[in-house]
Amino acid sequence: MRPLVPPYIETLKPYVPGKPIEETEREYGLTGVIKLASNENPLGPSPKAIEAMRVAAQKVHLYPDASSHTLVRRLATHLGVKPEEVVLGSGSNELIELLIRTFTTPEEEVLLSSGSFPAYRISTQAHGRPFAEVPMREGHRYDLEAMAKAINPRTRLIFVANPDNPTGTTFGRQEWEAFLAKVPEHVLVVHDEAYFEFVDWPEYFSAVEYFRKHPNVVALRTFSKIYGLAGIRLGYGVMDAKLAGYLQRTRMPFNLTIPAQMAGLAALDDAEHVRRTRELNGEGLRFYETELPKLGARLTKSRANFVLADFGRPAVALYESLLRKGVIVRPVAGNGYPTSLRISVGTAEENARCVEALREVLAS
Ligand SMILES: Cc1ncc(COP(=O)(O)O)c(C=O)c1O
Repeated sequence: MRPLVPPYIETLKPYVPGKPIEETEREYGLTGVIKLASNENPLGPSPKAIEAMRVAAQKVHLYPDASSHTLVRRLATHLGVKPEEVVLGSGSNELIELLIRTFTTPEEEVLLSSGSFPAYRISTQAHGRPFAEVPMREGHRYDLEAMAKAINPRTRLIFVANPDNPTGTTFGRQEWEAFLAKVPEHVLVVHDEAYFEFVDWPEYFSAVEYFRKHPNVVALRTFSKIYGLAGIRLGYGVMDAKLAGYLQRTRMPFNLTIPAQMAGLAALDDAEHVRRTRELNGEGLRFYETELPKLGARLTKSRANFVLADFGRPAVALYESLLRKGVIVRPVAGNGYPTSLRISVGTAEENARCVEALREVLAS
């Protein structure tokens, strides 16, 4: 009998998301659980976005504007690009799917860095596309030189996360330009900037600055992180208008809900919320950088809104002990980091509670 699914679906391991608060409270009989597991904004959405979603709720008997006309234009102005260079998605995750589906054939390969964001590999495999993974270099950093060397005649698409998730590491303009110079024009390079707004480093850059000179470059961004809208699913890509036009053909017509479109508009108008989030995040990163090494953890240099902390012992047990104390972090053994935990930056109180819980767990 013919198998129900092709082998690449049979062997596909689904994405493992952060454990939800409600589930943890139910399973462990707890209240007041905190979640530092999915790199969300601890301040929540902008009050302006909340109000916009309240208004939007009254319109959801209608189909959304399929072209997201107003939000596309508002974003284009925000970024200094043309509206036809912007494509919106139900989270940047949808853009990852669309890029694979639209620009690769089953004979072409996707090039990835091992130990980076697992969604690239999962989406690639779900589409039955072959992929190659290049190991990272020391310090869990992208090895762009090795990635350039790994390009072969079948390579069609490359994903790079910068800052990377779960490692938090970032590469700068010089490395990027040297890499781009080695990538053939027919190979698309997707620069995933999910944590762009958090980065405080002069050598950092955006692919938005590069796609005109290099039409094979695509920038991906999201409203899930600094804008605090992970639950509404809103992300976008910025790219050459010709590439964008193809994604407009393959995306679903109503991929963005009315609340998502309206929340996105309002969030872009709240620069103060973004500023406060960035400031809180900077303080939280510094707190973790000071406190976690005192507990024996080794941290990568993170410029995002989380840290990768290596405790030098099996981290799943630590994760489970933290759950019992009502603190959800992210085990990353499945990504190739069996002795590390990824810990998101929360409010000052949440960060302190997490460190305290870790101290108790490590002492017991
Ligand atoms: C590097 C990276 N890219 C993309 C995403 C997906 O974000 P979205 O919520 O926009 O789908 C994430 C989410 O954690 C991420 O870390």
